[in-house]
Amino acid sequence: MPIDPVLLVHGGAWAIPDDMVDTHLAGVRAAMAAGWRVLAAGGDALDAVEEAVVVMEDDETFDAGRGSFLNRDGKVQLDALIMDGATLRAGGVGCVERLRNPVRAARKILSESPHVYFVAEGAERFAAEHGIALCKNEDLVIAREVKRLQEAQAKGAEGQPDLFAPTDSHDTVGAVALDGSGNIAAATSTGGTLNKAPGRLGDSSLIGCGCYADNKTAAASTTGWGEPIMKLVLAKWAADRVAAGNLPEWVAAEAIHYLEARLQGHGGMILLDARGRFGIAHNTPRMAWAVKTGKQESSGISR
Ligand code: GLY
Repeated sequence: MPIDPVLLVHGGAWAIPDDMVDTHLAGVRAAMAAGWRVLAAGGDALDAVEEAVVVMEDDETFDAGRGSFLNRDGKVQLDALIMDGATLRAGGVGCVERLRNPVRAARKILSESPHVYFVAEGAERFAAEHGIALCKNEDLVIAREVKRLQEAQAKGAEGQPDLFAPTDSHDTVGAVALDGSGNIAAATSTGGTLNKAPGRLGDSSLIGCGCYADNKTAAASTTGWGEPIMKLVLAKWAADRVAAGNLPEWVAAEAIHYLEARLQGHGGMILLDARGRFGIAHNTPRMAWAVKTGKQESSGISR
């Protein structure tokens, strides 16, 4: 029996300002279209999530790739992970500063390396050795983010630092997909949190925290304040509950309740199992998302 593909994407969970709602919606819909082209042509879930995430990394709207939040030194520092639910192969990069599309480097690691994770200059070197062009860090920095960092640092100097306020941060992007062969995959990419300390790694590129995929359980991509998410290993927490027989829709909501109840965390999650059942949840004021199956297509700015 043919399997109907499913694709979900998110463009970050935070207090997306009114004047950025349209660009967020356009961005997740464009990502959805790119990923769906792969699935509709009979392609793999892994390729679909990679292509969807590349579109959002290239879109300055999001905290991924060019246009990401800046760290304390005014630099873009990016993390990404991609994972294949069929084989559990994964590729991750952390703290990279010269890659326009960290998810492409992560995919190369998954496909062409015996290792799972590369960081900083080593990750950039691996990418360059595998045909990915390096850019300058300045190529990733945009004026909107320079201003945002200056404002955040001015607030901090006045003694009102709130590095993790959902009003200011957490526009990570991600995708999960089920392909026609019944395989699931997930990818997550981020510039991390605004004004973060150089070298700080968030949840997004850590297996089981910001991203996870296993055909036997579920594929998950999370967004939000990374430290609580990684302490709870939240993507794996959710996947295990799907494996225990719970519906992804219920599990995604439970995961976000757990994040808030246990650690006062905030964020969002997209979750998909190999039967095509899915969930979308967040406890932030907004989260941009889009979903497409053979029968339905929808998108929104909150759930
Ligand atoms: N969830 C993105 C980060 O905290 O880095």
